[in-house]
Amino acid sequence: MAKAPASFTCTACGAVHRKWSGKCDACGAWNTIIEEAPLSSGPVGRSLGAAKGRVIALTTLATEETPPPRTLSGMDEMDRVLGGGLVPASAILVGGDPGIGKSTLLLQAAASFARKGLKCLYISGEEASAQVRMRAQRLGLADAPVHLGAETNLRDILTTLDAERPDLAIIDSIQTMWTDTVESAPGSVAQVRAASHELVTFAKRRGTSVILVGHVTKEGQIAGPRVVEHMVDTVLYFEGERGHQFRILRAVKNRFGPADEIGVFEMTGGGLSEVANPSALFLSERGQAAPGSAVFAGIEGTRPVLTEIQALVAPSSLASPRRTVVGLDAGRVSTILAVLESRCGIPFAGLDVFLNVAGGLKVTEPAADLALAAALLSAREDVALPPDLVIFGEISLSGALRPVGQAENRLKEARKLGFTQAVAPERTKAEGGEGMALRKLPDLVTFTGEMFGAG
Ligand code: TYD
Ligand code: MG
Repeated sequence: MAKAPASFTCTACGAVHRKWSGKCDACGAWNTIIEEAPLSSGPVGRSLGAAKGRVIALTTLATEETPPPRTLSGMDEMDRVLGGGLVPASAILVGGDPGIGKSTLLLQAAASFARKGLKCLYISGEEASAQVRMRAQRLGLADAPVHLGAETNLRDILTTLDAERPDLAIIDSIQTMWTDTVESAPGSVAQVRAASHELVTFAKRRGTSVILVGHVTKEGQIAGPRVVEHMVDTVLYFEGERGHQFRILRAVKNRFGPADEIGVFEMTGGGLSEVANPSALFLSERGQAAPGSAVFAGIEGTRPVLTEIQALVAPSSLASPRRTVVGLDAGRVSTILAVLESRCGIPFAGLDVFLNVAGGLKVTEPAADLALAAALLSAREDVALPPDLVIFGEISLSGALRPVGQAENRLKEARKLGFTQAVAPERTKAEGGEGMALRKLPDLVTFTGEMFGAG
């Protein structure tokens, strides 16, 4: 019988190719295709097949007992990102850069859930149990009723899970797990896929929730690969700048709650502490009013978050000037520069532009457009905006300002933090309220004229 041909898998998107090539046709990434041993075609695991082909009528679901309620860990930021607590039998992926604090976060979460009565098992493939215990001691969690394991063989882990039947199992990390049904090395696409598949299947069959920890590659993807994201119910990313103490847990996919929800933490000597008021934290580093700084009243998930957008504009010696953007969408920035140039007659040609969101938050809302434009103009004109001013609104290609959702919440948060002035699009359905002067403007030309006397 002919030997099964080797396959070539893209480590970025998981696509399988028949030949090696420099570029993956499926996702367009370069140098991501690696050779892998063929996938075994035999049964993947013992737990599979037990309920093969079993179907039930949708109408009978109502008569079955209602699903067990979600469990709250008591870590509010964690519970919020999960969509209101942990759903039984759910599979969750927590991705993040190495060293960002995933193990710390999940050990703290395991301790919190264990104290709420869940049976929690924390399996580390990276550290010995003694090391995990030392970390727990440092975090003040030594007395938490969490069960620890140090194991990388998936078969042994599944056997343990089957015997222990925990309510929550944490697998740290999925890249260290290996199964003997797949020939390639731990961390390869095939191993990660097989191990995730078996663990997620186990979760669904046995009612155990599993949290898989995944390291992220340089390109910002869970190493080997996207397929894990499709398998699980919830995908959370743990982000932050290494130099900063802020950490943001962001839901990018959630079958049981709103996506885009964030939880904010601060890394301290005693582990991660929750930040109940992120706006105050993000604005705390703001000094005196300086040109190039604008405060954006944004919404992250279900709550308002105020952030400072910083811009720097300087003469460029390059033929095509620099556009360096951190924490904002670079395409959006180009669009706004073009609108400023063609609708307001304010050119940025020959000028380097640097944009940054203070505190390491990533702002993806179109509502940030106007604050972004304000920061750019303030930097270009070298005029500081009033320090007690917040801005929000979307800019259309015509230069008109479009109203955005949840204006009331944005203004409320700004009032709470002591801001007294706001600028928003004309058709915004909210009023400034007590102590807040709200100016509603129709377009960007009016805005530049009012704020900078330009236009
Ligand atoms: P870790 O949770 O091991 O990261 P990951 O699992 O994502 O690789 O976190 C490692 C970093 O966190 C390390 O640089 C030290 C820092 N840290 C603290 O600052 N305080 C603490 O209490 C702990 C446990 C870690
Ligand atoms: Mg770790």
